[in-house]
Amino acid sequence: MTVDTNAAAKVLSGLRPFPVAVTTVDGGFANGLMSLSAGAASIIPEAPRATISLTKYNLTHDLVVNSGVFVMHLLSAEDDRIEESLEILKTLGGSSGRDGDKIGKLRTRTGVTGAPILLGAHSYVEARVTGTLDVQESSIFVGDVVAAEILNPGHRLQIGEAWGKLPAEWIEQYETNHGPQLANARARRFAESG
Ligand SMILES: Cc1cc2nc3c(=O)[nH]c(=O)nc-3n(C[C@H](O)[C@H](O)[C@H](O)COP(=O)(O)O)c2cc1C
Repeated sequence: MTVDTNAAAKVLSGLRPFPVAVTTVDGGFANGLMSLSAGAASIIPEAPRATISLTKYNLTHDLVVNSGVFVMHLLSAEDDRIEESLEILKTLGGSSGRDGDKIGKLRTRTGVTGAPILLGAHSYVEARVTGTLDVQESSIFVGDVVAAEILNPGHRLQIGEAWGKLPAEWIEQYETNHGPQLANARARRFAESG
């Protein structure tokens, strides 16, 4: 059976418009990345859960597997905060923690899980992983929310607005970095399904 991948892309694209900055810490090393996979994962208001999906190619994936903790931050779209939001996005989404410390470049404090809280973010939930689904090239993590805070109230940044404001050179570099990540994902998927 041939899948209409154009139709699938239309159905599936843009479902999660809010980019989130995910941070974690493992063995004293703090790191993070940008993700468009954030979601709520509980119907019980007094027991909130959050979910993220990270590819195994990314260092943050392994750190969350090992430590079992993550912080999911929304970014701010307010005029006086947008520059810092873009700085967070570029810092965490533009290179790997394998190539050098990223968290040290951002304003942080330590959360209850030990993971860094980004003070320039709009808000965050901090979570302890309660379940992980391994799907070949990536893992879907679900975490119990153990802390939450609105740091900088106002509108939350959506990815369409962010793409419009990011420098062309940064986007070009991001697309270059995406190539090996995609190749790695394909190798993992087709190696396992065989
Ligand atoms: C807008 C945006 C969305 C992204 N979404 C995801 C995602 O959902 N999952 C993921 O694993 N990586 C995602 N990435 C890629 C990582 O943020 C990027 O590869 C990062 O450099 C990985 O850093 P690390 O190796 O230090 O973990 C996204 C990047 C951007 C800019």
